Amino acid sequence: MSGDREQLKTELLEQIDKDNIPAHIGIIMDGNGRWAKARGKTRIHGHQEGARRVKTVVRFANDLGVRHISLYAFSVENWARPSFEVSALMRLIRAYIIRERNDLHAEGVQFRLLGRMEELAPEIIRQANISTELMKNNPGLSLNLCINYGGRAEIVDAIKRIITEGYKPGEISEQLVSQHLYWPELPDVDLMVRTSGEMRTSNFHLWRGAYAELYFTPVLWPDFDNAELLKAILAYQNRERRFGKTSEQL
Ligand code: IPE
Ligand code: IPE
Ligand code: MG
Repeated sequence: MSGDREQLKTELLEQIDKDNIPAHIGIIMDGNGRWAKARGKTRIHGHQEGARRVKTVVRFANDLGVRHISLYAFSVENWARPSFEVSALMRLIRAYIIRERNDLHAEGVQFRLLGRMEELAPEIIRQANISTELMKNNPGLSLNLCINYGGRAEIVDAIKRIITEGYKPGEISEQLVSQHLYWPELPDVDLMVRTSGEMRTSNFHLWRGAYAELYFTPVLWPDFDNAELLKAILAYQNRERRFGKTSEQL
């Protein structure tokens, strides 16, 4: 980070309430293509820069005491992109999992792949499983990499498993659905961040994000640094989470 950004980060850090850090942050990492276009580079270059950002943000979130970070890296809808871009993204994701494994492990974080596994290359699943297994007893944040993820797909997959297991209509509850999502141990999303100025959630964490505080920033993902993460957390800390109650009841 440049000196100015470091200074801003220090100032923002002083304003953060360390006892009110969101336990689960979801990030829709958007804007790689526009970032590259503005520099006359290819979209793939933008994705490479975006992938570089992940490390800084994950490390800092872990230091802050965030327990879960879900990163939207490839949606079920993203298969509709040109095939060379899809292939490049899959190569980047695979390379990321392999390259970062030891560093993530050294930082004490955990690793989970979130998404519909059936349509992913077996090699990506195999590499992800190696990371998950290696880091499963680590005490730090859980990095939940969302690949071939769709909020609706996750709910559909949960319903399929519930039916396969033979539950009766009277036994279906919100708790039961939660228990059949991908990685049922993951808590609800507290703060959902989207970069690049788009104000939609694009099928991300539909179930667990039902009560997430939404934060939108015009910053493009490859420019999203630790100061930007602090801004999002500060915005979250200034919200009143009422969960249906009135202000007076809190
Ligand atoms: C987000 O950046 C990364 C993925 C969806 C994989 P985009 O590629 O969507 O970037 P823009 O929206 O075209 O700028
Ligand atoms: C959302 O970004 C998905 C990811 C960041 C992986 P998109 O750029 O694909 O979203 P839409 O289609 O513009 O909403
Ligand atoms: Mg986009």
